[in-house]
Amino acid sequence: MARSRQPLIAGNWKMNGLRADALALATAVAEGVKRAGWTDREILVCPPATLLMAVAEAMKGSGVLVGGQNCHADASGAHTGDISAEMLRDASASHVIVGHSERRTDCGETDAAVRAKAEAAWRAGLLPIVCIGETLAEREAGRTLQVLETQIKGSVPAAATAAKLVVAYEPVWAIGTGKTPTVAEVAAAHAHIRKVLSGLVPDADAVRLLYGGSVKGSNAGELLAVGDVDGALIGGASLKADEFLAIAKAA
Ligand code: PGA
Repeated sequence: MARSRQPLIAGNWKMNGLRADALALATAVAEGVKRAGWTDREILVCPPATLLMAVAEAMKGSGVLVGGQNCHADASGAHTGDISAEMLRDASASHVIVGHSERRTDCGETDAAVRAKAEAAWRAGLLPIVCIGETLAEREAGRTLQVLETQIKGSVPAAATAAKLVVAYEPVWAIGTGKTPTVAEVAAAHAHIRKVLSGLVPDADAVRLLYGGSVKGSNAGELLAVGDVDGALIGGASLKADEFLAIAKAA
């Protein structure tokens, strides 16, 4: 991992957690991070929006950041049930995940919609984590790198710089399945992502590229050791403080 890129370990709690459990988890993460005293990595958790403020409060003094899992492209308006980037910011978020494959699949989010959400994040002062990744069928058809390239070109806004963008590579078939690509496959995907970014972002070498998909304490070391992997986006394992802290330790 290049030292110039500060590792980012991000937990995506998805639609999990009622207040009592979530606060117990947040407190355990906060205590673990405080105990470890890391100054060379960023730790982020993205709880359900209903818990953002309570989790942010529980993280106070630990340095753990909080983020949203999605946002609407507009700042406000007649969009029943949606949440704007400004609202996330107001609830103490510093980051927002955009274009997660579950949203691309469940809600039909297109690359253009994801790009608009990333721009909304900037407008609100949030750092977007733009997710991309191929399906199993795309991988088996040998189309992985081409799919990633199309998603990057469609989802990353034109004015992106390393300070304003994090990209997460999450193979759809690796999410929540316990399966991961080989280290060589992750290396090839991340190298290609950085190459594509170099045509779009002036300081592409400094953009942080996260790997996501079945990351856990036992495989984090080898995944995070890949040259172009600058952190992880973690679903299931981020719901267990010990596992999440083990991954953060591996960074
Ligand atoms: P997982 O999810 O770690 O449970 O595979 C990753 C993600 O969807 O961000």
